[in-house]
Amino acid sequence: AQRIIIDTDPGQDDAVAILLALASPEELEVLGITAVAGNVPLALTERNARIICELGGRRDIKVFAGCDRPLTRKLVTAEHVHGKTGLDGPVLPEPSMPLQPQNGVDFIIDTLRQEPEGTVTLCALGPLTNIAAAFQRAPEIVGRVKQIVLMGGAYFEVGNITPAAEFNIYVDPEAAAVVFGAGAPLIVMPLDVTHKAVVTKPRNDAFRALGTPVGEAVAQMTDFFERFDRDKYGWDGAPLHDPCVTAWLLAPELFTGRFINVEIETVSDLTRGMTVADWWGVTDRAPNATFIGDLDADGFFALLTERLARL
Ligand code: BDR
Ligand code: CA
Repeated sequence: AQRIIIDTDPGQDDAVAILLALASPEELEVLGITAVAGNVPLALTERNARIICELGGRRDIKVFAGCDRPLTRKLVTAEHVHGKTGLDGPVLPEPSMPLQPQNGVDFIIDTLRQEPEGTVTLCALGPLTNIAAAFQRAPEIVGRVKQIVLMGGAYFEVGNITPAAEFNIYVDPEAAAVVFGAGAPLIVMPLDVTHKAVVTKPRNDAFRALGTPVGEAVAQMTDFFERFDRDKYGWDGAPLHDPCVTAWLLAPELFTGRFINVEIETVSDLTRGMTVADWWGVTDRAPNATFIGDLDADGFFALLTERLARL
C-alpha cells in the first residue's frame, strides 16, 4: 500500500476524500490525519476529522491538530460554503476517539524522518500551512517526501474566493509559495479539474442507494454543500474538490494534466493567492508541478461509489 498523511480542513468534500482513502486499505495506508485551520477554525476541523474516522469505522486512525492560523496572515474561513460546523448536512455523533497529543506539524516532520526516504505521500486538502511549517522547520524532510498531491489553485477556471484565487491557496499564499517552491514532486488538482467532478442528482442518488450510514451521510453532505454551487454558479450539484486527490492515488489513469511551472502570487492584494500556471509554456521557468486539467467524471464517480460501499 502507498503510505499517506492526509492534511485537511474538513469540510464536506474533505470528508468524502478521507472516506475514499479509508475505504481503500489495500492501496492506501493512512499513517495519520493532520488538521489545519481553513474552511472553519482548527477546533472544528480536528473534530470533524475524528467524526469522519468514526463514521468510516476507523477509530484507530491517528488524528492530530496542526496550525490554527496561516503562516503570516489572518485566517479566512468558508462557513458560507460549508456551514457553521464545516460539516453541516448530516447529523453525526460527537467524536469519542482521542485527538493525539502531538502537534500535527511535528507528526509530519517525525514521520518523514522515520520512514524510509521516498515512501511517504502527503495529501493536502486545505491551506498548505502545516506542510509549509514542517518544511520551514525541518528543511531536510523535503527530499524525503515521495510526492505531494494537493487540491488548490485554478487556471482557466480562475477563482472561487476572489476572482483570481482558489480558497486553499488564497488562505495561506505564503505557505503555498513554500510548498510550490520546495522541489518535492507535486501533483495539483485545481478548480479546472474539480469543477468537472460535480455530484449531479443521479450521482447523489447512487450514494444514498448504498443504504449504509456512510452512503446516507455522504448524500446529505453533498446535498448541503451543493446549495452554494447551485445558487452561485447555477450548477447541477456540488463539485467534489478534495476527493480528486485520493482518487488520483487510486486511479491516476482517470486524470490528465501537464507538467508545468506554477508560481504563487503573494504580493498583490488584488490577485493574492493566484496560481500563475504556465500552461502554454510561454516562459522559461522550470516546471515544478503536474497541473491536472481533466478527468473521466463517470469513472471517478463509479470508483467513489464502489469504494464507499465497502465502508
Ligand atoms: C477547496 O476549498 C475548500 O472549501 C474545499 O474543502 C476545497 O479544499 C476548494 O476551493
Ligand atoms: Ca478542503
